[in-house]
Amino acid sequence: MTRGAGAPALRGRFIVLEGGEASGKSTQAAILAERLGAVLTREPGGTEVGERIRELLLHGPPLDARTETLLLLAARAQHVATVIAPALSAGRDVVCDRFSGSTLAYQGWGRGLDPQRLQLLSSWAAAGWEPDLVVLLAVTPEVVAARLRDRPVAPDRMEGEDAEFFARVERGFASLAGGDPARWSTVDGAGAMDEVAERVAAVVDRLPARSGPSSSRPS
Ligand code: TMP
Repeated sequence: MTRGAGAPALRGRFIVLEGGEASGKSTQAAILAERLGAVLTREPGGTEVGERIRELLLHGPPLDARTETLLLLAARAQHVATVIAPALSAGRDVVCDRFSGSTLAYQGWGRGLDPQRLQLLSSWAAAGWEPDLVVLLAVTPEVVAARLRDRPVAPDRMEGEDAEFFARVERGFASLAGGDPARWSTVDGAGAMDEVAERVAAVVDRLPARSGPSSSRPS
């Protein structure tokens, strides 16, 4: 379709999958991106700088909570500036495995940092870009424990946190989803991969095909 001269370009949809460890969101993000023909990306990561920061965060030495947060946000700034914003502006849908919800859940609820300050810093790092839809994959602690047991790799720095930390993170996600039902949808992450993918697809199908030029970006 050609657009008239001067008509605003329609931007793509920004869809984020969130959830705790072993919630299956990376698998579901990949299935969804394939289905939509969307750009698939992840946080922390998604750029060369972001992937190096990810390595430091997950496999590096112990970090102070503020250092951890600022590294995550540095990765986000680079990711938004060089991958997410250009893709959305060009009309591509973007499916991102984790975004600002993870910062609020892990660094806010998990580490105990001030949520309002985190929100401001994250929004600044993301140059105001926000997801159109956040799909929260909810799984019970028993399912998570079983999936982590079956993983062949050693736990990373975050996965090594204690059960109370993850309980706070889960409460954080539930609170974020409950507090913003227009943007967040909770999907049952238990069961076979295809069944969960159908549930995710049903939620995404309710989103309008294309958002307006700046609806995810507050002025
Ligand atoms: P995952 O993508 O394999 O789930 O691993 C990413 C880890 O990084 C996970 O433990 C959650 C953590 N994380 C945060 O703590 N805060 C954030 O803002 C993001 C994006 C991830």
